[in-house]
Amino acid sequence: MRYGHFDDERHEYVIERPDTPLPWINYLGCEDYFGLISNTAGGYSFYKDARLRRLTRYRYNNVPADTGGRYIYLRDDEAASHPTDPPFWSPTWQPTRIPLDEYECRHGLGYTIIRGKLAGIASEICYFVPLGESLEIWQLTLHNDRRQTANLSVYSAVEFCLWDAWDDATNLQRNLSIGEVEVDERIIYHKTEYRERRNHFAYFACSETATGFDTQREAFLGPYRGWEAPKAVESGQMSNSISVGWQPVGALQVKLRLGPGERKTISFVLGYHENPPNEKFDPPGSQTLNKRTVRPIIDRYRRDGEIEAAFQKLRAYWSGLLDTLQVRTPDPHVDRMVNVWNTYQVMATFNLSRSASYFESGIGRGIGFRDSNQDLLGFVHLVPERARARILDLAASQLPSGAAYHQYQPLTKRGNHDVGSGFNDDPLWLVLSVAAYVKETGDWGILDEPVAYDNTPGTEESLYGHLQRAIRFTLDRRGPHRLPLIGRADWNDCLNLNCFSDMPGQSFQTTTNKDGLTAESVFIAGLFLIAAAEMAEMARKLGRDGDAQACVRAAEEMETAVGEAGWDGAWFRRAYDDFGRPIGSKECDEGQIFIEPQGVCVMAGLGLKDGRALQALDSVAERLLTPHGILLHQPAYQSYQLHLGEISSYPPGFKENASVFCHNNPWVMIAEARVGRGDRAYDYYRRINPSVREEISDLHRCEPYVYAQMIAGRDAPAHGEAKNSWLTGTAAWCYVAITQWILGLRPTFDGLRVEPVLPSTWSGFDAVREFRGVRYDIHVERRGPGNTVGLEVDGKPVAGTVVPLPEAGARQVRVIARLG
Ligand code: GLC
Ligand code: GLC
Repeated sequence: MRYGHFDDERHEYVIERPDTPLPWINYLGCEDYFGLISNTAGGYSFYKDARLRRLTRYRYNNVPADTGGRYIYLRDDEAASHPTDPPFWSPTWQPTRIPLDEYECRHGLGYTIIRGKLAGIASEICYFVPLGESLEIWQLTLHNDRRQTANLSVYSAVEFCLWDAWDDATNLQRNLSIGEVEVDERIIYHKTEYRERRNHFAYFACSETATGFDTQREAFLGPYRGWEAPKAVESGQMSNSISVGWQPVGALQVKLRLGPGERKTISFVLGYHENPPNEKFDPPGSQTLNKRTVRPIIDRYRRDGEIEAAFQKLRAYWSGLLDTLQVRTPDPHVDRMVNVWNTYQVMATFNLSRSASYFESGIGRGIGFRDSNQDLLGFVHLVPERARARILDLAASQLPSGAAYHQYQPLTKRGNHDVGSGFNDDPLWLVLSVAAYVKETGDWGILDEPVAYDNTPGTEESLYGHLQRAIRFTLDRRGPHRLPLIGRADWNDCLNLNCFSDMPGQSFQTTTNKDGLTAESVFIAGLFLIAAAEMAEMARKLGRDGDAQACVRAAEEMETAVGEAGWDGAWFRRAYDDFGRPIGSKECDEGQIFIEPQGVCVMAGLGLKDGRALQALDSVAERLLTPHGILLHQPAYQSYQLHLGEISSYPPGFKENASVFCHNNPWVMIAEARVGRGDRAYDYYRRINPSVREEISDLHRCEPYVYAQMIAGRDAPAHGEAKNSWLTGTAAWCYVAITQWILGLRPTFDGLRVEPVLPSTWSGFDAVREFRGVRYDIHVERRGPGNTVGLEVDGKPVAGTVVPLPEAGARQVRVIARLG
């Protein structure tokens, strides 16, 4: 069953009814100011950091679901003459949940439009964040479809968060006495803590002069009431309350008279602003907020023409980004994900890492080292300058040992001490992201950039040096089988082999009570082989042959170790525990086979020559494959295993305990492409593709336009139910799997490789790829059943599968690839 449809032309997903299985959300903003918005206008906004600079309040995991948002109420001021219609309602359905005659939500790229009609009054609200601004617009258009004049009141409402979302939710004894606002010319300014150490404030304004306002929550809602029936809306009377302490809100009322057939647009602006520390007050010495700096911005966005222009700019920005790669294949699900939604999700993961979604509270997680480096793999081609800056920030959170903080804080860029480091796969991901960046851009200069360790001035070394230390870090930490020590965890955060935790509430990720010298990871070995190959190639290109050789030797040693201790007979083992016993082996009762090492080892090229790669992938197909994707491991752990950690803390079929953890499904897709099995790669791709799964939205439940982190595995009661949508490494990896491996358009240091491994039923595809400033028009056609590529570039045959870099000044290249 579906709840909407894709509008491919407009790059929108259209939700046709408000009561989707879960709130289906979108993101506003892609630079500094962000908002989450659901299909019924729920959500919140923040500036840069979802915890420390949260503008509006949102209560996660509350009932009714998804209350708190960007609300508009419409009130019929002559309700008596329409006795059969409700006296007031929300044109976004929430929070009143009064049934609408018509409803539609269009989630687009950086904007959301919600339409609703009731009692002959049609409304459309377009929410977006203009590029380059730290504010959001809600542009409301009302249309009177009645035969009589309508006298309406429009109310807009937000609840302010007192900036630090964690503190806001917990430190009530203080918070209930610190709220402060100012209202000036009917613009509401939220300035809690501005008197002391903050120089930022929020504002909420309307294009019309508001006829009334409220800033005290209780005055607006009325005692013991919620957002579904504010007293002020019910009665039509605002109190013009000024909040001091308690709960500051921003609520504005505008009275409107709309003739029959008349249309009217009203806009609201919610924004964030910082004043220079010495210009906080006006007049100086007073406690009055200096509004002179922000007024021009507010005034600009109260004008319709400006809003329209900003909206068109946003649309143009996104179509420009999407133009970097556009494909036309026989499968519309591939096309819409690659051309629009997967790209869009990759941007969201790049921007927010794992911080703020409807499953991530915006409080706990900063920019993840491992996560962001992987997100970059799908993002580099979109805005390479931002990828470059991110790489340098990440590298600056590396420690002199080559280790890395697991996360850094977006506002300060400092490593997060609470979580610390010790996830032994972390540093290696940096090698992958840097290699991807250089392949995409040809910007070798990044490797010379001086970057500090732990953000400590005076410790700068070139980025190249950072990568060398990342490699060294792994080599210096090897265990009894010469495999890398796992540390707190590797990619699988929940395989905690040095944490024997029996105390409730202990963090599995940071509790370490073993010496860490025994538990090893085959996964890290595979990842190391990928990183070492990239490093060796980069070193060679830079003329550092000694480094290159050292990498190759280290890789050979590692390969030997995997050969001796990492192979289980029909698949790659996962790890060795603190007792030196294998995990992911036929010797185990549960957790006999894991997806991660099969994917990563074959991606690294292991077993390609001797058949082990095929055998490992066949084992995956045999033991881990379900109609909803590939499971993390089997059999699931049925009980808590002290020596394995968090993985066994989840009920079977959930999360790291044998769900379809979508993130590493694409590794197997890539591995299948590496061994030349296009049908399988594509089959796996489709199993988790959200657009394909749109048909089963009542089971899948999450948004059909973005990937979710996990889909409940076959051991779970609701096999196929997705959770944790949006902020997942699945986005970048699926993008890489489909575009670079199945479609085979893969940047290399020397040019764009065209090496598709297509499903046998496809006759070919077309693509336009912008690469290093040149437009590649690519036509792929199948001549025979195989994967051998015959390349023709601008009419001339070319040996191999890499299109040589065109001469300087060339703008366009025409590539034909014949497969057979
Ligand atoms: C989460 C984490 C990621 C980790 C994965 C598997 O998605 O963000 O870092 O690799 O879980 O545990
Ligand atoms: C939880 C999640 C896991 C995540 C980890 C680290 O264990 O299940 O996916 O990686 O937390 O935050």
